[in-house]
Amino acid sequence: MDRLQELRAEIDRIDAALAGLFQERMTVAAEIAAQKQARGLPVRDPERERAILEKLPARMPDPALRPYYARLQDCLLELSRAYQTALLPRTDADEARIFTDYPVVIKRGALARAGELFRLDRRVFLVTDSGVPAAYVKALAAQCAHHTIFTLPKGEQSKSLEQLANVWEAMLRHGLTRQDCVLAVGGGKVGDLAGFAAACFMRGVDFYNVPTTLLAMADAAVGGKTAVNFAGTKNPIGAFWRPKAVLMDPEVLGTLPARQLSNGMAEILKLGLTLDPTLFTRFEDPAGPGDLEALISQAVALKQSVVEQDEREAGLRRVLNFGHTLGHGIEAAQSGRGALLHGECVALGMLPLCGPAVRARLLPVLEGLELPTTVSVDVEAVLAAVAHDKKAGADGIEVVTVPEIGRWQFEKMTLSQLRERLQTLLPQGGIQNA
Ligand code: GLY
Repeated sequence: MDRLQELRAEIDRIDAALAGLFQERMTVAAEIAAQKQARGLPVRDPERERAILEKLPARMPDPALRPYYARLQDCLLELSRAYQTALLPRTDADEARIFTDYPVVIKRGALARAGELFRLDRRVFLVTDSGVPAAYVKALAAQCAHHTIFTLPKGEQSKSLEQLANVWEAMLRHGLTRQDCVLAVGGGKVGDLAGFAAACFMRGVDFYNVPTTLLAMADAAVGGKTAVNFAGTKNPIGAFWRPKAVLMDPEVLGTLPARQLSNGMAEILKLGLTLDPTLFTRFEDPAGPGDLEALISQAVALKQSVVEQDEREAGLRRVLNFGHTLGHGIEAAQSGRGALLHGECVALGMLPLCGPAVRARLLPVLEGLELPTTVSVDVEAVLAAVAHDKKAGADGIEVVTVPEIGRWQFEKMTLSQLRERLQTLLPQGGIQNA
């Protein structure tokens, strides 16, 4: 046997031992699921997960292997949760009690099996937009007992009260009742508008969401925020309306342009920078951040853990605004020029609010993803938009800052402090009124 064959045989032996350990682990996980059920505890236990992840460095002596071991552990936690959830019978009481009890399924090819997750044996009002490939909408429509498709024109301007009224009018015209449901298929704008339509129609009907962009999968589709834009402001009219279930099929991202993928990566980076160094480290891997399914799962689990602690954004959930205060300002100052996407503005909005060491690590990651690190923008227009933002108060504007990766804090900043920070984004690092 040559050396390569010997090594392969050795790997086979190790994999067989791992399979045995995996079986043992899942058998214990099943028993834990039964215990949790008997005690009325949720499957997800963020405290315990944090404790497990904290033990990682001590368990893995080789620092070079730690990020890989962290991924393995993360994957194991995810699999345990999925296995436990699959074992437990769902009850109405569960659904009312625990926010995270609505399932978020992240699986390649899941679109074709949406009927197993959603109750589509009724009238389904499908809301999509003209940018979503027709094949995805058809695949879902084919699984519905009765369906109506409502196609919004693509673009942010569709997230309006006028379009919302058109959706409601069509829902009434097609005889939708309280027992029927709304199914969104598209990016964040479609999900936000369709979710709000569902929240208000007949005082609330079931809402399912199938996000088709990475940006929507990583952020908008989870957490129950729904809204439309109004009077020149983003999302002031809306409701918290939990979806009944969310289905994410990473295969649909295959048709997304690279720029749109990077757009979504910015939201995932936000979660890594604020909440989970292991997620950020994935992006520093020269081979890339790895499998999309695992990446989305990690991002969704992080967002879920924040939302389940503070669904209504009384405090903690505001961490998810990291990069968004300045990002929205940049987006507003750029509006009409069509220059930058939401995630690109978030990437820019995060940079000035990172500590120097974080910034030094973030810059090459953004460059690798071809996300912008500088912008020609009218700083005063950005500040005017920031001041207009709902988060602006009399004593300054609250922003999230990240002094080190995985640690965040709220800070009040005056407009002149923000002006100074924004100037670090200008191409020459100086004042510019574009
Ligand atoms: N997009 C931020 C949040 O869901 O709170």
